[in-house]
Amino acid sequence: MNNTELETLIKTIPKAELHLHIEGTLEPELMFAIAKRNNISLKYNSIQELKLAYNFHNLQSFLDIYYEGANVLLHERDFYDLTWAYLEKMHNENVLHVEIFFDPQAHTKRGVAFDTVVNGIYKALEDGKRKLGISGYLIMCFLRHLSSESATETLKLSMPFKDKIIGVGLDSSEINNPPSKFKEVFKKAMSYGYLTVAHAGEEGPPEYIWEALNSLNVLRIDHGVRCLEDKTLIDELIKRRIPLTVCPLSNIKLKVFSRLEEHNLKELLSRGLLVTINSDDPAYFGGYINENFLACQKALQLTKEDIYNLAINSFLGSFLSKKEKTHFINKINDVVKISSKH
Ligand code: ADE
Ligand code: ZN
Repeated sequence: MNNTELETLIKTIPKAELHLHIEGTLEPELMFAIAKRNNISLKYNSIQELKLAYNFHNLQSFLDIYYEGANVLLHERDFYDLTWAYLEKMHNENVLHVEIFFDPQAHTKRGVAFDTVVNGIYKALEDGKRKLGISGYLIMCFLRHLSSESATETLKLSMPFKDKIIGVGLDSSEINNPPSKFKEVFKKAMSYGYLTVAHAGEEGPPEYIWEALNSLNVLRIDHGVRCLEDKTLIDELIKRRIPLTVCPLSNIKLKVFSRLEEHNLKELLSRGLLVTINSDDPAYFGGYINENFLACQKALQLTKEDIYNLAINSFLGSFLSKKEKTHFINKINDVVKISSKH
């Protein structure tokens, strides 16, 4: 396949997105529009000025701006509009299933009610299913820079919404906030029937991935790119079939790797790990899912087989049922069959 054909394949192949913070899809234009209707004054005078601030040197420097941006979100309509805009984009990128993170504590600490956040996002997911045919799950993340007590409090707040939330995750500042800090709250969440994931090995060491596996019993690792530093860990991830939700453009913006050409995605794949490509916080990192695929294809010479495997992995690594996974994988095979005829 030549480069144009590979580009077409990337754009048309059915995909799932498994690592996406809904607050990280807040485009500058929408941020300004919501700020205006909510009478909130932003620190920046224009979209151009705001975009100039998107120059990060590590995870923390990004998070400071990300939480500031999320401050404009006050009403159910704001969360709805944010989620709907993302789903429309995904529809245009042939993304058929999404598992969306949200950060309730980033909102409840500002006095926004838990139900305002969940209802706004969830209503958009329902419309996404009905009008766009996209299926969607919601994963509530605990902010790891806050206390485990605050996480437990948030877990309690989520109880009336258990049927709308499929799982819990762990995000925010990784260094010095190891997964073990949240052992008890994850145990409780699992006893309530929540599925579990955690960010680990983005900036933090392989030991944090071990902790996410052994203390939190997670079913997926978000990022996990530092696993390659530990051979025993790689073997364990393969043995347990733990998906890694890798976010290539995010890793470049946050200086986890200096250039995309140096990203270890291809090596993770060649070791036999269940790797997926995701966009993390696309409004801040310069690209949604297809842009992540396209940039990786160019920088790492991804082949047709790589693209096919990554698309299959995105469904295999999801929380869909076995039957739904088979349904989506059949759809991928249909597209690949057609594209190989040309
Ligand atoms: N919250 C939003 N994006 C994140 C990331 N890449 N890592 C940790 N926490 C986050
Ligand atoms: Zn993330």
